[in-house]
Amino acid sequence: MKIRVLGSAAGGGFPQWNCNCHNCRRLRLGEMRAQARTQSSIAVSSDGDHWVLFNASPDVRTQLQAFPAIQPRQGVRDTGIEAIILIDSQIDHATGLLMLRESTVPLDLYCSDAVRQDLSTGFPLLEILKHYCGIRHHGIPLNGGGFAIPNVDDLRFYPHSLKSKAPPYSPHRHDPHDGDNIGVTIEQLSSGSKLYYAPGLGEIESHVYASMREADCLLVDGTFWREDEMERAGICDKPARAMGHLPQSGAGGMIEVLNTLDRPRKILIHINNTNPILDENSDERAILDSAHIEVSHDGMEICL
Ligand code: MLT
Ligand code: MN
Ligand code: ZN
Repeated sequence: MKIRVLGSAAGGGFPQWNCNCHNCRRLRLGEMRAQARTQSSIAVSSDGDHWVLFNASPDVRTQLQAFPAIQPRQGVRDTGIEAIILIDSQIDHATGLLMLRESTVPLDLYCSDAVRQDLSTGFPLLEILKHYCGIRHHGIPLNGGGFAIPNVDDLRFYPHSLKSKAPPYSPHRHDPHDGDNIGVTIEQLSSGSKLYYAPGLGEIESHVYASMREADCLLVDGTFWREDEMERAGICDKPARAMGHLPQSGAGGMIEVLNTLDRPRKILIHINNTNPILDENSDERAILDSAHIEVSHDGMEICL
């Protein structure tokens, strides 16, 4: 299985256009050992030709331009993207559907009913796209059963519901529904290798932990280092968990959880621009290094 990290940042990217936080400022000034990052998305393939896009970020155009394997090869219009899976309906994960409107066929979109509803009401992308390429919606099972995608026959996808947060425009913002956010295990049938992907993960429920244990590689929520990171940065007073993101540090945090797992390669993704791990010389990054936890970057390629 081939995995390409198209975008490794959380909403806003790194640096964020209007952000003058410790990280964004130092990156702009060239005073920090760090890489700029675009917003959260990965592409997965078995053969390197047929790709499934996980999320469509507002930066998708730049991301595809940086990735020759997914670009047009034959005919006047072409793409290596066979289908798109959305893990939630957040702006950073869904807006890129608009940038794909030139498709000559309806986009094959796999998402939960909750996400489809958000994208038809509070953030009506799917209504707008009816005037362009349109989409073909495919429902996804949340009960453990997997699903297949045509032309990507060697991969099977097992989504499950997560405790995270629906976006502010969702009818479910204060009324969580199954499928507002999902995690997905992607299995390559020929090799048996498994990736677990969950860029927005507020709580490690038992089904989540079981999937993490079985995976060969994890790409999981790396948004915040601290529970009070946004407050300390002077940005807002929302704690990480209230935003649907388990912080890395502290009791019950992501590092503690990952330390209990022997098997998988452990990689953080969806990193917010305030997170000190973006600074490759930081103490926090050294803590991750010693725990054998990696930090994904745009263009990272993983082979399982
Ligand atoms: C989140 O996952 O909480 C988002 O990145 C928020 C956003 O995109 O504004
Ligand atoms: Mn996000
Ligand atoms: Zn910032």
